[in-house]
Amino acid sequence: MRDLVSIADFGREDLERILADSERDIGRPLEGKGVALVFQKPSARTRNSMEMAVVQLGGHPVYIQKEEVGLGSRETAEDVARTLSCYHALVAARVMDHRDLLAMAGATETPVLNMLSDKAHPLQALADLLTVKQLLGRIEGARIAYVGDGDNNVCRSLAEACGLLGAELRIASPEGYGLPDSIEGVTQLVDPAEAVAAADIIYTDVWVSMGQDEEAGARRSAFAGYQVDETLMDRSAHAWFLHCLPAHRGEEVSAAVIDGPRSAVWRQAENRMHTARAAMAWMLRG
Ligand code: CP
Ligand code: NVA
Repeated sequence: MRDLVSIADFGREDLERILADSERDIGRPLEGKGVALVFQKPSARTRNSMEMAVVQLGGHPVYIQKEEVGLGSRETAEDVARTLSCYHALVAARVMDHRDLLAMAGATETPVLNMLSDKAHPLQALADLLTVKQLLGRIEGARIAYVGDGDNNVCRSLAEACGLLGAELRIASPEGYGLPDSIEGVTQLVDPAEAVAAADIIYTDVWVSMGQDEEAGARRSAFAGYQVDETLMDRSAHAWFLHCLPAHRGEEVSAAVIDGPRSAVWRQAENRMHTARAAMAWMLRG
């Protein structure tokens, strides 16, 4: 049994196996078993892709809203994990504070899965790379440009996953909003035009992540000039557009790009379910 808290939980072969398993029948390793899905923040894709992935693996998902368990208020994160592991084969959580996930993982032998924290979104990175593989036919050597908030969950997990599989990631962020860590194969830039030159994939995420509402005004000012619009896309004529979603048209991306012919965001969203299946099977194999 293995936890999946961040991309650091994978080696290269693990990632390759999960991406391959996402596109084939891997049976029903959750037959007759439960999976707890704890959400401290809203979700459309993660809840639905996880629930359906659990069903496809033969299991039963139990959706738990933050008020029900009161992670860290009604009960400690550790006790929530210990309790849920009495009934479930796997405990998945979307948390405000990454440290709660680490506490949960440390409190139980049952595998704990990160469904997004402030620091990491490994399930998203798996779907991102599967989409890259499908669009380009390869991941190694793929040129991916990420424009926007480099210091968020989605960008960090994408950067770590690109580093493991040999994709080249160029991030363009305003000063003070870049990826704080140095990762092999990742170049941090300020100018979006420089980042997207010759890119195969142009990726962005929201400027204001969940839990950052107090910083919203400052962030919108800092990120003005970082919108992925048709002018930016045209700097690399062959590039596909990706976005983890939810998207804010008119902020980080223009409607013409996300709703246009070079956008693969719905394939990317569907891939959340296929990669979630393979990720849970990997965790259970241990
Ligand atoms: N991309 C993603 O995780 O979407 P949700 O927040 O809707 O789950
Ligand atoms: N960075 C975004 C991702 C949402 C899937 C957030 O944390 O809100």
